[in-house]
Amino acid sequence: MTDSILVLYGSYRSDRLGIRLANYLVTSLRQRGNDVELIDAKAVGLPMLDRMYKEYPNGSAPSAMEQLAEKIRAADAFVFVTGEYNWGMQPGPEKPDRPLP
Ligand SMILES: Cc1cc2nc3c(=O)[nH]c(=O)nc-3n(C[C@H](O)[C@H](O)[C@H](O)COP(=O)(O)O)c2cc1C
Repeated sequence: MTDSILVLYGSYRSDRLGIRLANYLVTSLRQRGNDVELIDAKAVGLPMLDRMYKEYPNGSAPSAMEQLAEKIRAADAFVFVTGEYNWGMQPGPEKPDRPLP
């Protein structure tokens, strides 16, 4: 049976390094026969630190968040890749005040 796995990575840093580990995990897990997708928060552009998904009335969440929620519901497993920031996991990014490069 093929497992559906999400690899989630949340760094918005310009010179982020964890993306290399995230990509490595995606490749390795695919080689083991899994159905794997990288969820890169910077690419998805989630409105973090605004509202939680469950706080939106049904069907009114931002579309990027709605699409991700559907992927999370459908997945069998999750792998989180995070750097250590100030002795803990990195927080959610603030909503950028300008378009990301
Ligand atoms: C604001 C900030 C705080 C950090 N705090 C820690 C820390 O407490 N302990 C640690 O070992 N590394 C710390 N680091 C180093 C990060 O873990 C390292 O830069 C890592 O590559 C961050 O992940 P990313 O490249 O995927 O963003 C910190 C880096 C930043 C930018």
